Order: sequence, then C-alpha cells, then structure tokens
Amino acid sequence: MRTIDWVDGAVEIIDQTVLPKEVRVLRLHTVPELVAAIQSLAVRGAPALGVAGAFGVALAARVHADDPQALTAAVARVETARPTAVNLARGVRRAAALLPRGPEAVLAEACAIRDEEVAASRAMASRGADLIVELCGNRSRLLTHCNTGGLAAVTLGTALGVVFELHQRGLLGGVIASETRPLLQGARLTSWELSQRGIAHRVAVDSAGPFLMARGEVDAVILGADRICANGDVINKIGTYAHALGAHRAGIPFVVVAPESTVDTHTPSGDRVPIEDRGAAEITPWSDAVNPAFDVTPHDLVTAIVTDRRVIRP
Ligand code: MRU
Repeated sequence: MRTIDWVDGAVEIIDQTVLPKEVRVLRLHTVPELVAAIQSLAVRGAPALGVAGAFGVALAARVHADDPQALTAAVARVETARPTAVNLARGVRRAAALLPRGPEAVLAEACAIRDEEVAASRAMASRGADLIVELCGNRSRLLTHCNTGGLAAVTLGTALGVVFELHQRGLLGGVIASETRPLLQGARLTSWELSQRGIAHRVAVDSAGPFLMARGEVDAVILGADRICANGDVINKIGTYAHALGAHRAGIPFVVVAPESTVDTHTPSGDRVPIEDRGAAEITPWSDAVNPAFDVTPHDLVTAIVTDRRVIRP
C-alpha cells in the first residue's frame, strides 16, 4: 500500500502516529485536516511531505475554486506547515503553479510528483546498494537513523530502500535501527517496516550509535535527508550529526540517500536552514526544554550522497 495517495476525492494516508500498534488509514478532505496531519507527523518524511504538500494544493483548489483570497491563504498554510524539509514547500509551489489551469490540472501535477517519488525510490535503492557493496563489500552491517522507508516516501523509501535492496540481493550482514528520540521513528516505524519484510534487525538507543561504531559492529551508516544544501551540508533528523561524528572517528562510510527533490541548491549551507523546534511537551512535562527536530551534518563528514540520478561525493 502507498503511504500517501489520492483516493476518491480525498488524500489517504497511513497514520504514522499509531504505528506499530495499529495500521490505520486516515482520509483527509480539507486543508486544515491535512495541515494537522503534517504537524502531528501522521504523515512525515521529506518525500512524503512533498507529495502531501502538492495534494494539499489540490484540496485547496477544489474547496476554494471561487475565492482567490481563501485559496492563497490555504496554500500558504500548507506550505508553512513544517519549515525544514525542502520537499514540502517545493511540492506546494510546483502544484500551485498549475492553479491558473484549474483544479484538475493541479491534481494531475500532484499525482505526477507522487509518481516521480515512486520512481526515484527505485533508482536510489539500486544505485545505493551498488555503492554500499563498492564501499563495504558483501554482507555489510548497517546503522540507520529515523525512518526512511516507504512510510517516509510513497513506497520503498530512500536509505531503507537501499537496505531492502541489499537484503533482496542477499548482501545484508545486519541492521541497527537507531531509535530516534523523542518520537521513535526508528524504534516504531523502521523496525515495523523491517519486520514486515522479514529482515532481522536490532534497535539501539541513539546514544549507542557512535560506541557501536567504535566497537567495530557497524560497517557503514546510511540515512536520509530533509534538505541537502548547495555545499553538501545535510539536514536530517536530530541525532544524525552524532552518528556522522561517530562514523568519522571509526573510519567508516557515512552515506546519505535522498531524491533530487531534497537537493536545495538555493540554500548555500546548513546554517541557513530553518530548524523546526517542536517544543517541550514531546520531551518532558516537568521542565522547559529545547527540542530541535533536525540537525546539520557538515559536508566534510559525508562520504557520499546517493540521489535518483547520481552519486555526489561532497
Ligand atoms: O520529523 P520527520 O519524521 O518528518 O523527520 C524525517 C527525517 O528526518 C527523515 O530522515 C528524512 O525525512 C528522510 S525521509 C526519506
């Protein structure tokens, strides 16, 4: 099943807030419903957010066909629902460019974005698997962070798609899923996707990653991105930078897998990217808190970036 799709006049998503306990499908009919789903992370992950943004414009175009002011406001709400993954605003803008041609043209563009992400996942899986074999040989033991599978894209995924491909080729030596505090995308979502495919894996607390690398239990780190800047800096889920430092110290490859739709050549470097802070409630009821949802991994810690079209070695 697709994580996100347009079905009978509404956006259908798998609700990622209730996995792995329950596989629940939500039907979203309005822009406020879609924005709430984006902000609660019911739909999440950079490629899926791009598709969600485009479908959001399709919803807005239907509801506000006769009210240009309301339409503009609705499109802006979708575009700014979350600030960090470049795919969201990019998906919104691409679909919104079709507004003068009417709601059906907008929907067609949104479906094209969905289909492009499906194709991109396939291309990245194959290219990424080739690269891991080149860098680490056969039977590599990989550590991944956050969730970069079909749940974060439309199907298959980015970094986790590479893991699936290596498993299919019989070349996977093991997977450690970093739990990904505080919302546990690794422990809940990545672990669920790996189990669905019958892939043996272990979950580790985020802070164990660099130590496991130092102890020689990891051959490469492979993960996704929410934005890749012009200089190769990688913005991804908080905890990524620590894994990059650990990989550098242990002398193992640090590989990022992301579609071209995540590459943002308009942003020169990571310090220019708005980093979402999700507030204290997700961490602690007892105290004020700082809760950045993403971090910046400087390009010199990145061995390679695999996209659907190329391998970039920053
Ligand atoms: O806050 P999230 O869960 O949307 O963050 C997602 C990530 O950081 C992923 O690693 C990234 O989007 C890559 S998804 C293929």
